[in-house]
Amino acid sequence: MHVPGYRDTPTDEWDPAAPVDPAEADDFLRACYAENPRLGPVEPRLAIVRAQIAATGTYVHTPEELGHGAKMAWRNSSRCIGRLYWRSLVVLDRRRARTAEEIFSLLVRHLQVAGGAAPMSRLDATAGPPVERPPGTIRPVISVFAPAVPGRPHASVWNDQLVRYAGYVTEQGRRIGDPRNLAFTRAMEALGWKGKGEAFDILPLAIETPHEGVQLFDLPERAVLEVPVAHPEYGWFAELGIRWHAVPAISNMRLSIGGINYPLAPFNGWYMGTEIGSRNLADADRYDLVPLVARLMRLDTTSESTLWRDRALVEINRAVLWSFERAGVKISDHHTESARFMAHLRNEEKAGRQVPADWSWIVPPLSGGATPVFHRYYHEADLKPNFYLDAPARARAAGCPVAH
Ligand code: ARG
Repeated sequence: MHVPGYRDTPTDEWDPAAPVDPAEADDFLRACYAENPRLGPVEPRLAIVRAQIAATGTYVHTPEELGHGAKMAWRNSSRCIGRLYWRSLVVLDRRRARTAEEIFSLLVRHLQVAGGAAPMSRLDATAGPPVERPPGTIRPVISVFAPAVPGRPHASVWNDQLVRYAGYVTEQGRRIGDPRNLAFTRAMEALGWKGKGEAFDILPLAIETPHEGVQLFDLPERAVLEVPVAHPEYGWFAELGIRWHAVPAISNMRLSIGGINYPLAPFNGWYMGTEIGSRNLADADRYDLVPLVARLMRLDTTSESTLWRDRALVEINRAVLWSFERAGVKISDHHTESARFMAHLRNEEKAGRQVPADWSWIVPPLSGGATPVFHRYYHEADLKPNFYLDAPARARAAGCPVAH
């Protein structure tokens, strides 16, 4: 769907049949080796890669190239305010997994490593030494599965995030759950899944491989960290039964590094409170809590100028931040995250790099002008490595899978 006035997610018009572009490989390797002197001189590596591309149409990243390339892709994500910590990304090299079963168990591991439920195992070679952490310490993690081989089908996850809530419409036309996922929920039901019909039913993962077709998997409880939302002063808030998941893990964007495409490379950070409080729980086409909360706060809703919407929004956002903090689950507020982004801009300037950024995504959806990120413009370049949302992936997550 194209909405006039809205810019779509960046796309580089990927042709899955095309061989790797040697110039793109060249650019990436030069940048990667220049930023990491410990990798040694780039020239011998360039010669090998050029020969590999000439012979096979593609090449294979070393674990170091993959690790740094994934970090660069995060660093280049124009819509992300959280990029100060791009170097800390945990990169899990999952290129050998093939079957849906293998992929599923590694996605469960991803959520556990990201959400702090599992110590990272020694097998995660690129992830550094194993560390025990209390649950709730969210770490930015990416799991990189097999690259696309030009002209051949590849595995994909249909869901747009690993954890999402189902959406339903009752026979009386009442909406239950997350309306954003209505069509996707119907697609899952058509494949045999049945939800409880409640407001926060976790959707199954739909994993498609070239040999097995699409298969559904229910996430085990241990993989899904959730926080019940209550308010520090309004006792009635807890009774609304609102909750949200702790780990936002985008699962349908393609990671593009040096001309190689990784169509399955789910990644996560931690939440900024406004994503939940001002959008997921507040948007009229999502959980639409603003009118209900305003009523329960007994605000005067007869005139817009009482700012009842704004007052309700602030309290929903307070509830989200307070609840995550109370549960010991990492989250940050938009003031803190904006200040961090300003620090990121300074760091990158010192390193002699541009920071591509999309103002309309960087500015928080609450009190924008009260944060420093509002008061300036940004470079709008589309730099690679990066993440892209392809039309077929978007369609699958929207519940209309198409042939691909
Ligand atoms: N805004 C999306 C959501 O509410 C998540 C996008 C990624 N967010 C993040 N903090 N890494 O689910």
